[in-house]
Amino acid sequence: MTGQGLSSAGGDPRLDGPVRVRDKTGMAEPPDIVVLTGAGISRESGLATFRDADGVWAKLRIEDVAAPEAFARDPARVHEFYNARRAQLADAAIAPNAAHLALAELERRWPGGFLLVTQNVDDLHERGGSRRLLHMHGELRRVRCLRCDAAQAWDAPLSVQTACPACGLSGGMRPDIVWFGEMPYHMDRIAATLRRCGLFIAIGTSGHVYPAAGFVAEVAGRARTVELNLEPSEVASHFDEAVHGKASEVVPAFVAQLLAQCRR
Ligand code: OAD
Repeated sequence: MTGQGLSSAGGDPRLDGPVRVRDKTGMAEPPDIVVLTGAGISRESGLATFRDADGVWAKLRIEDVAAPEAFARDPARVHEFYNARRAQLADAAIAPNAAHLALAELERRWPGGFLLVTQNVDDLHERGGSRRLLHMHGELRRVRCLRCDAAQAWDAPLSVQTACPACGLSGGMRPDIVWFGEMPYHMDRIAATLRRCGLFIAIGTSGHVYPAAGFVAEVAGRARTVELNLEPSEVASHFDEAVHGKASEVVPAFVAQLLAQCRR
């Protein structure tokens, strides 16, 4: 696992592949699963991705809104960007789609270990019922104070005047989002779980942003690796299998197949 902060880099489905491995006693055991999700899984829920033609980075520059230097230079602009995105989550039209629901069902019913690692800062996995979930790039509905480092749930707009409820100081409240150049959250736990996993599934992520884009190479050769995405990602060549299509269609189908094999 690299110690670097967040950074950018520039087949045929084999759904009937093995989902059981043999342990040392020769007993068949379901493998531990790690699922990595990205913005593509939330697109059909009405949230824009980053690098598609209509994505966030087609209209805005990363260095203006998603970097610590941007916040130091123009905090009001950064607040405006994240306030709008936080407010969008409260829109009645934004709801988990069939892919979010299928992953929650997989977590509930899979007899082996399971961890969902998301790069998404929305709360659609939680709303879909996922519980064993880590937000490696932070969460829109949380804020952090640069003065005292307290982090907390937060749904209101933020401004440079907002006082921290923990220390009372203003000027230091920021979205609890991992910006470019910062260290993603939960990396120790993710690394430990990747070392144990026997099935790695990446969904709706372009493979441009590290360290998440490097997870497949870390487990390749040890775990079965599957990419479920609208199109081949930047790291597609590292996966054993790929299914291309909309998340709301390919994820429920893949989950159903996994659970059916598991019952055999
Ligand atoms: P990207 O926007 O880079 O990639 C989204 C991927 O989802 C692309 O490969 C699309 O082809 C695919 N996609 C689009 N619609 C889809 C659909 N309906 N079903 C399935 N796949 C679909 O988003 P991420 O890979 O998540 O970080 O981006 C990684 C990080 O870069 C984000 O967490 C964010 C961004 O800058 C920060 O802002 C900190």
